[in-house]
Amino acid sequence: MKKLIAGPMATLSHQGLRKIIEDFGGCDEYYTEMINAASFLTHGQFESFYALNDFGREKIVWQLTGKDAEPMAECARELCALGGIGIDLNMGCSAPEIYKSGAGISWMLKPREETERLVSEVRNSIDSFNSEVLSDGTHKHQRLSVKLRLGDENFKEDEFYDFCEMLYKNGVEQLVLHPRTKKEKLARPPRYQFVEQLALNMKDKIPVILNGNVKDVASYEYAMSKAPDASGVMIARMSAQKPWIFCKLGIRNEELGIGNEELGIGARERGLMIERDGAFVVDRLMVGMVYIQNLRLYQPKEFWETRMQRFFAYYCDNFSFGHYIKSKILNCKTLEEAETTFTKYFDEMPGDRFEKI
Ligand SMILES: Cc1cc2nc3c(=O)[nH]c(=O)nc-3n(C[C@H](O)[C@H](O)[C@H](O)COP(=O)(O)O)c2cc1C
Repeated sequence: MKKLIAGPMATLSHQGLRKIIEDFGGCDEYYTEMINAASFLTHGQFESFYALNDFGREKIVWQLTGKDAEPMAECARELCALGGIGIDLNMGCSAPEIYKSGAGISWMLKPREETERLVSEVRNSIDSFNSEVLSDGTHKHQRLSVKLRLGDENFKEDEFYDFCEMLYKNGVEQLVLHPRTKKEKLARPPRYQFVEQLALNMKDKIPVILNGNVKDVASYEYAMSKAPDASGVMIARMSAQKPWIFCKLGIRNEELGIGNEELGIGARERGLMIERDGAFVVDRLMVGMVYIQNLRLYQPKEFWETRMQRFFAYYCDNFSFGHYIKSKILNCKTLEEAETTFTKYFDEMPGDRFEKI
């Protein structure tokens, strides 16, 4: 059974989006947007929003970013106490402001001992949590995972696999590989052959998850044909553009487990999906409106405008006049303005409102 995982995206993978994905039947794991360990430990006014876990609670993976091992280990300990699947270390982010600060992909490029120390310190934190007896008398197993790229432009295949072996030996229990180098843009095809080789290397050890460019049934099948030994697929951008993507993949592939009976009960209850002419269709107007409402419910006011804009930058790609509606919404200054603008679009383009699942 292949796992389906919602990928981490800064400003997007928050509770508001997670709730919509969950309404459509959910997926196996939800990686949170990266949480800056040092900031989180300050317990500043915005930090608690990163830790919201009212929906899909048991499937959340807390992704940590940072430049120093100590705060990351301490933060891991705090996040473990919130429940979920476990802690992920971000070793893949190649945004300049992140790697220049010593976080993200720079962990793949630092002296090996430094990265080894980070992994073992976070591992120790998790082990100490795992060894505790909870109030109900049980233990909770929290997992350690790493999401990574191939390395920088000069990466050597052997060194990359050796790096992954080091992660495994230090207690990493799942790897997600986004098979591009530091500088390779998202437009470049990901190199799935590295996922396959890594999955073969890690066979009978730990799961390896493929990430990159999976956007529909055809691209899912293509990716799996290139990396048949991968244990699952992580989908990032398309989980914002089409939060129903996991539902769509699930019903096409019984192995993935979402049967028609169960199909998006929450989405149907909330009017995100309706039955039309004997088939289920997504109401894309409703999904956009519910996303905006979820910002009000689950994000601090200070984040509303940017998080609305980041979502619609992807979501508008669903529509025939995507550029037109995108530029209008990206100019909206308030959530109310965005709601009015978005609703009006469907008066002009009623045919864009529904999508068959
Ligand atoms: C807006 C945006 C934010 C992202 N933020 C993160 C992040 O916080 N942590 C991370 O590991 N990767 C992050 N990524 C990378 C994605 O998780 C993923 O590796 C990449 O988008 C390729 O997968 P996709 O083709 O399914 O989108 C981000 C990507 C985008 C587009």
